Amino acid sequence: MEISQVKAIVTGAASGLGAATAQVLRDSGAQVTIFDRDAKRGAEFAAEIGAGFAQVDVADEDSVKAGLAAAQALMGGVNALVNCAGIAVAIKTVGRDGAHPLDLFKRVIDVNLVGTFNCIRLVSEAMANNAANEDGERGVIVNTASVAAFDGQKGQAGYSASKAGVAGMALPIARDLASVGIRVNTIAPGLFLTPMLMGLPEDARVALAADVTFPKRLGKPEEYARLARFMIESPYLNAECVRLDGALRMQ
Ligand SMILES: NC(=O)c1ccc[n+]([C@@H]2O[C@H](COP(=O)([O-])OP(=O)(O)OC[C@H]3O[C@@H](n4cnc5c(N)ncnc54)[C@H](O)[C@@H]3O)[C@@H](O)[C@H]2O)c1
Repeated sequence: MEISQVKAIVTGAASGLGAATAQVLRDSGAQVTIFDRDAKRGAEFAAEIGAGFAQVDVADEDSVKAGLAAAQALMGGVNALVNCAGIAVAIKTVGRDGAHPLDLFKRVIDVNLVGTFNCIRLVSEAMANNAANEDGERGVIVNTASVAAFDGQKGQAGYSASKAGVAGMALPIARDLASVGIRVNTIAPGLFLTPMLMGLPEDARVALAADVTFPKRLGKPEEYARLARFMIESPYLNAECVRLDGALRMQ
């Protein structure tokens, strides 16, 4: 899909990987509407880069429906969706305080997996009404899994399960949406320098980067954003999951 024709919703774009993606898409000539539950940061960042903003909880059906209607009105339609909204919890299955609280397991699945699917199903329903381009495309979707989908660490039962779900559902969704000309791809990031990791002390960041094979550093959010843009632009790339991790393979 030609980037200048793109009308993209980017979820979780008040921060981190989503914010970098919204920025790169705007800089490349796309229209963008940010969905984030953080109204203050989301609206400020959207104004800074010339994007639209809707306060949305991706896991809530009515909230996504309202945000979608706002995005369609702001951009005159929607033909791309980048799902970056996500949360992380780090709790062992059985830890010092006992068994993993079930509500926290459910919460991470609800935001990362159900929230991603909720946006996909509602936004692709709208995309299906778009006129097809010369490749037959009506829309394109990029999801965010994690290397934790494959090499989850201690304390990541819920997070890894949610991200494995995101990676696993891409092929059946791509098959479901093929008849309406919508592609679905997944990025599985390694360790990226976003507010989550920037909060760590310098020595902890150096220790994390030491496990990366090459280049020996944390990923830059713009590197994620460039891959998301490439996935949007490349009509033959479909149902693919790309690890973006400097060959990191955590033990
Ligand atoms: N940073 C990394 O190293 C890394 C690695 C692998 C995967 N990821 C994944 O990439 C995505 C982005 O992560 P990040 O590092 O940019 O995180 P981040 O915390 O910087 O940004 C996440 C954004 O999502 C928003 N959000 C959270 N729950 C939401 C909800 N229910 N509805 C709407 N918005 C919501 C937050 O307000 C925030 O703006 C997440 O899915 C994360 O799991 C990140």
